[in-house]
Amino acid sequence: MSIHIEAKHGEIADRILLPGDPLRARYIAETYLDNSFQYNSVRGMLGFTGTYKGKRISVQGTGMGIPSISIYVNELIRSYDVKKLIRVGTCGGVRADVHVRDVILAMSSATDSAVNHSLFPNIDYAPTADFALLHEAYRIGSKLKVPLHAGSILSADVFYRDSMDIVKKLGEYGILAVEMETSALYTLAAKYGVQALTILTVSDHIFSDEPDTTAAERQTTFNDMIKIALDTAIA
Ligand code: HPA
Repeated sequence: MSIHIEAKHGEIADRILLPGDPLRARYIAETYLDNSFQYNSVRGMLGFTGTYKGKRISVQGTGMGIPSISIYVNELIRSYDVKKLIRVGTCGGVRADVHVRDVILAMSSATDSAVNHSLFPNIDYAPTADFALLHEAYRIGSKLKVPLHAGSILSADVFYRDSMDIVKKLGEYGILAVEMETSALYTLAAKYGVQALTILTVSDHIFSDEPDTTAAERQTTFNDMIKIALDTAIA
């Protein structure tokens, strides 16, 4: 047991999917895993272990934001020996060539969080995906013919801002989309020498008025992302 996860040692697989929403963890376990069981309900942050194509895999909710995901990633690596972590989440599109329902593989993450500046004063540390996972996810996503981007994202500390000007400017410098967790995931994975990747679906666009997608369309895109993540995790 760790402080926020009540699983016994050995109940969590060494590869794991990390949705922000714990109900999505349940959906993934019920839809894609065989023989799954729930190992965590502390604070409602559900976690499950089962098998996918015969390989043992877990799925754990992380909550929203860098402080929340940092708690779960620390405990999964340090207390449960997890070695391969794939975040599956949503993001807001920033660049005009990114559209609602596209899938984004986060190569690296910029952030306005103070966490890495307090770790490395005067250094702009660059949290980066594991290349083998990124390469495999790109291969699998291309085969599925999913609209796919690989590039940099912003892990923001705030969802609601007075002005989006700085986000727009980051887009001009290559940032594809904004979410709230990846810089912490990649930094912790690097610290502990394990593999991490973030895969995102674009749930909304910050600067363009693209028509809303239907719930069914959003579910299809979400399922494409989960298939990429699961097949990458067991590769
Ligand atoms: N901002 C931050 N995180 C997000 C967004 C957003 O617009 N959309 C989905 N996750």
